[in-house]
Amino acid sequence: MLTSIKTHNLTSEGQKLGMMYFRVAIILFGAQLLMGLIAAIQFLAPGFLFELFDFSVARMVHINALVVWMLYAMIGSTYMMLTEETGHEGVGLGLGKLGFWVLTAAVTVVVLVYIFVQVGAGTEASLWLIHEGREYIEAPRWADIGIVVVVLIFYFNVFATYMKGEKTGIMTVMVANLLALAGLYLAGMFYTDNISMDQFWWWWVIHLWVEATWEVFVGTLAAFALIRLVGAKREIVEMWLWIEVLMLFGSGILGMGHHYFWIGTPEYWWEIGALFSALEPVPLIAMFVHVLYDWGKEQGIAEGKGEAGSVITNGPTMAWIVTNAFGNFLGAGIWGFFHTLPQVNIYTHGTQFTSAHGHLAFFGAYATILIGMMYYGIQKAYDVKILKATFKSKMALFLITFGVLGMTIALTISGYEQVMVERGELGATWNAFFIAQNLPWFIQGILWRAIMGVVTFIGFVYLVWDLLTIGKASQEA
Ligand code: HEM
Ligand code: HEM
Ligand SMILES: [Fe+2]
Repeated sequence: MLTSIKTHNLTSEGQKLGMMYFRVAIILFGAQLLMGLIAAIQFLAPGFLFELFDFSVARMVHINALVVWMLYAMIGSTYMMLTEETGHEGVGLGLGKLGFWVLTAAVTVVVLVYIFVQVGAGTEASLWLIHEGREYIEAPRWADIGIVVVVLIFYFNVFATYMKGEKTGIMTVMVANLLALAGLYLAGMFYTDNISMDQFWWWWVIHLWVEATWEVFVGTLAAFALIRLVGAKREIVEMWLWIEVLMLFGSGILGMGHHYFWIGTPEYWWEIGALFSALEPVPLIAMFVHVLYDWGKEQGIAEGKGEAGSVITNGPTMAWIVTNAFGNFLGAGIWGFFHTLPQVNIYTHGTQFTSAHGHLAFFGAYATILIGMMYYGIQKAYDVKILKATFKSKMALFLITFGVLGMTIALTISGYEQVMVERGELGATWNAFFIAQNLPWFIQGILWRAIMGVVTFIGFVYLVWDLLTIGKASQEA
């Protein structure tokens, strides 16, 4: 079935490699959703798959698969745009292909180990062979080292191609940002038995990824895509890209303080975290306005020239990018800002509210645009001039977005019940936690999360179906 996403029309080796990464990404995305559904059912029926496939395992695979599929899709997107931006066919891509297979074999082994070795002692050996126990990036150390080697190969491909090819602003940001993104992974690799120190460094990976380097990364993707899809002016999108880089790094780096409120780090982080993290939504708003403004302007110009029909050369990619602009703003900007001041966070910390934000932010800021890039890959692979959205594309976009928004709202309601009852009224005791978990508002939120999770999954089925068929269908049309 997967060979039907063909690559033989692609003349660029880099783009072929990009498509290989996309295929694995979409499989892992499916696995992520299935694990989420299992974990969601376990919230409602704690005995479900007990001791066969425990909540701890389902949750862990859910969020690790999330990070890994996004990294795959990010590498895939980079290879997709590399040749087109630099005008060079790519340096060392044979090595890049080898890296792909090594990484994919390692990921498969790691996931199988997670699933089959569920409990056991935490020793030096389990750190090397089973997992490191750091939320989101639990790969054991042998795999960590493998990941670093493969990423170095990937970076060599990108950097060497950049040096030989044309050095556009987009590529310059891409090359510099990827170095920071890859380098940060190292902060999550060493072990200390002081939990505060461990968390301190762990946040360097998670926060500085999603709130700094990944945001800049999707900024470069949006800039690239807007030029390709609607003929946006390069000077304009690049100017915004540079402003975003400046603002994201400014607010994102010290904004990390919002994770240092309660882990045993000094209290000055309260002020630093409050101020800088509260500024974080500013670049997100700029990005949001930028994408919509540019798009509207280009539309207007085209209409003014009396050009017939749409000027968008790839409907599904454009739709997902617009969803990205809204999603990033809502999930990271609004839902993030809600709980980022220490005065608020002392009540919301670690409740379902956090999970609501986590879902909408990861989805809105990253899943959307990465899915959009997959459609861009399909357009190239089938060599179609204008890729129009099909009924399936629309169902996929609608159901996935509606599902994730629904889950977010449901979790926000559960989270507020926790804040009110568990934290506010009963004072955050052990007993208060269990009382709050059993009240109707909490349980209803958890039930609706599961229902909306099913909606999301149906949307995913449409997405895969569409990705497998849209290329051929539009070639015939
Ligand atoms: C796309 C960007 C973002 C993503 C993907 C993201 C994702 C997440 C996730 C998954 C968590 C939970 C971490 C855990 O397991 O403990 C989290 C926590 C948090 N995020 Fe974000 N976030 C983003 C941007 C933001 C922004 C811009 C803000 C502030 C304006 C923010 C504020 C927070 C806060 C305060 C917490 C801690 C919650 C707690 O204390 O329980 N996030 N974020
Ligand atoms: C079928 C749809 C999904 C279901 C049923 C689902 C369910 C769940 C469940 C039950 C958890 C554990 C929450 C906890 O420990 O309290 C979780 C965590 C998480 N999921 Fe999902 N999920 C789904 C889709 C997604 C998607 C599409 C994304 C992002 C693109 C995502 C990102 C996350 C994140 C970041 C966490 C950790 C949140 C935190 O600890 O704050 N999930 N999910
Ligand atoms: Fe953060």
